[in-house]
Amino acid sequence: MRVSSERIHFPHGFLWGVASSAYQIEGAWNEDGKGESIWDRFSRTSGKIKNGDTGNIACDHYHRYPEDVALMKELGVKAYRFSVSWPRVLPKGKGNANNAGLNFYRRLVDELLQAGIEPWVCLYHWDLPQALQNEGGWAKRNIVQHFADYAKLMAGELGDKVRRWIILNEPRCIAWLGHLYGIHAPGAKNLELALKVSHHLQLAQGKAIQTLRDFDENFQIGTVVDLNAVHSISDEENDREAAGNFDQFSNRWFIDPIFRGEYPPLAREAGIRPEQEDMDLIKQPLDFLGVNYYTRLLVAYNPSSPLMQAKVVQKKTPITEKGWEIYPNGLCETLTRLRKEYGNPLLYVTENGVAFEDNVTKGGQIQDDDRIAFLRDHIAAAYRTIKEGARLGGYFVWTLADNFEWADGYSMRFGLVRTNYETLERTPKKSFYWYKQVIANNGFACP
Ligand code: FCB
Repeated sequence: MRVSSERIHFPHGFLWGVASSAYQIEGAWNEDGKGESIWDRFSRTSGKIKNGDTGNIACDHYHRYPEDVALMKELGVKAYRFSVSWPRVLPKGKGNANNAGLNFYRRLVDELLQAGIEPWVCLYHWDLPQALQNEGGWAKRNIVQHFADYAKLMAGELGDKVRRWIILNEPRCIAWLGHLYGIHAPGAKNLELALKVSHHLQLAQGKAIQTLRDFDENFQIGTVVDLNAVHSISDEENDREAAGNFDQFSNRWFIDPIFRGEYPPLAREAGIRPEQEDMDLIKQPLDFLGVNYYTRLLVAYNPSSPLMQAKVVQKKTPITEKGWEIYPNGLCETLTRLRKEYGNPLLYVTENGVAFEDNVTKGGQIQDDDRIAFLRDHIAAAYRTIKEGARLGGYFVWTLADNFEWADGYSMRFGLVRTNYETLERTPKKSFYWYKQVIANNGFACP
């Protein structure tokens, strides 16, 4: 690794990529035998998604994937992280597989490999089959076996060509946003239920890791957590304690069990007291950990909040379209913490990116200099952590093209490529060409 004051130059073999997820881009929500997912159901429930948007069509990636792969090839990425829609391949979540759905992923993988792009397959990015939800979904313990069966099916279908596997995307969001705050599918607001979900997710993760490992010992298996930098708003003891609780709730809850074999103390206070067997199943060795990083949260003491006695307070400027503080140092802090406190695992930044309103010129160009600055500063932060000894193997931008941003529908544009939702035309933004240069040079000159 060359280090000089003006140039950031990543180690040879550093993996540059982009990330996406099935529900956010595929569309074709009921085509070719696909079953309904909880996001199909949720997005069609009135009042849940901004402007009543749904993922029915999204970017129509199901039909236009060759165009998207061609864009990635032009961008020069070495890896593409995408997810499989469970109900597309198992319409009821279990039982008979849907060959047309499996075929889609086979074709996608082939297209990627032909373009010289390594497929990174994520098994669960939030679109649970509605049929399983009807039986209780993640709140029922039998989901663990159903998920393992699904993992095995995908290993059998794609395992001859796919080496990288990601088990879950952001269990925190699934448990808390989907089952406690009700802002994501399935829209539950129930602490007791959410606690169960958080545990079953991690059991399912452990069992799926075992299943894939038994299938092929050469698989590289990881999982993805979203970690925020959590800071206390002041030096007051109350605030610091609240920030500590919040950190346990949103970060440690999902990494302590897998790396340390135990939940943080707050989970035990909340009533989670699993059998040792459960913890043994959860604590599976990982080949890598994927980290999604977007922002820092400032936390203050709030006596009226149950469990954590904490609240997130106003972010410091500057913020993004999402209202998230721009805080690149937090990425450094997060990766460094994993190095120091969690045994220095092999890490990948599996998502980092930003939504801003696009500035479209009269000539139709998209001048997203603010996105370029955001990515540049975060990539520079990632680079610093490598210099300090973190084992960081790659970085994935969220995301290739603007897409369905969950509860925000199509109102938030995270893409390096602009999606015209009327014509579905894709137009690379300035940041696309900037990132292309970064990849080509394996770094960039610091401004
Ligand atoms: C992450 C999600 C991803 C995307 C980004 C903006 O939490 O994993 O699907 O929506 O946020």
